Amino acid sequence: MRLANKRVIITGGNRGIGRAITERFLKEGARVALLVRRDVSPFIKELTDKGYSVQARQTDITDYEQVKQAIDAIVQAWGGVDILVNNAAIISREGVLDMSLKAWHEVMDVNVNAAFYCSKAVIPYLSAQRSGTILNISSVAAKCGDITAAPAYGTSKGALTTFTRSLARQLAPYQVRVNAIAPHAIVTEMSAQWSDEKRKQVISAIPLGRMGTVEEVASTALFLASNEASFITGETVNINGGYLMD
Ligand SMILES: NC(=O)c1ccc[n+]([C@@H]2O[C@H](COP(=O)([O-])OP(=O)(O)OC[C@H]3O[C@@H](n4cnc5c(N)ncnc54)[C@H](O)[C@@H]3O)[C@@H](O)[C@H]2O)c1
Repeated sequence: MRLANKRVIITGGNRGIGRAITERFLKEGARVALLVRRDVSPFIKELTDKGYSVQARQTDITDYEQVKQAIDAIVQAWGGVDILVNNAAIISREGVLDMSLKAWHEVMDVNVNAAFYCSKAVIPYLSAQRSGTILNISSVAAKCGDITAAPAYGTSKGALTTFTRSLARQLAPYQVRVNAIAPHAIVTEMSAQWSDEKRKQVISAIPLGRMGTVEEVASTALFLASNEASFITGETVNINGGYLMD
């Protein structure tokens, strides 16, 4: 098993890409704690019934005090932590002129600030043990702007990719790796909101001619989180069927 006994914290890991990462990491031997918005007891029960070690804590990840309290409690119970996955995100589809200041800040709070808060809470443990990894779920929008013309979302993902590089440099002396994934056109509830026309248009621009699956994203997350990626840090890996090659 590629993550045997690894202790993993994932934000919003109860559906979509986060859920696939949670399930894949558990199958590879990890213990997982989710920081979630709402009660996800049925999901947790489904997994614990299968014998997996998984828990969820309802946490407002846009509130640093709550994040710190939740992460400290999880890590103290485990006696350490090895992997943080900053996965949770929201999207707001208004253009700049239509977007309220509140909507802009909400996107930044969940997509950027929460990643900073979770990292800030986890880093003292990782750097003290001189091992571990942080994985940020960014987006192709970080590199070429959001394809659904959602400026706050694209900007937030650009910030996350830059945060990844900055943190990778800061934590390298402690042997802590920081990477990101930039998916595009993955079948989830987020992309289910697209119109049929939008979906066709998106697929027509993808050389592999289809959308991606959450399992394909989870496979890349597993690689980056495991020791197989031990010399990779500061990288943002494309998962996009060839849509963007950079
Ligand atoms: N689906 C795609 O095509 C695609 C493409 C590029 C990037 N991504 C990124 O992948 C990640 C997962 O997206 P997804 O498609 O699975 O979306 P999703 O909407 O299905 O899942 C997002 C998750 O974030 C959680 N979340 C949102 N706000 C939260 C908060 N305040 N506190 C805690 N959890 C919160 C949700 O509960 C949910 O579990 C996101 O970072 C997203 O930006 C997705």
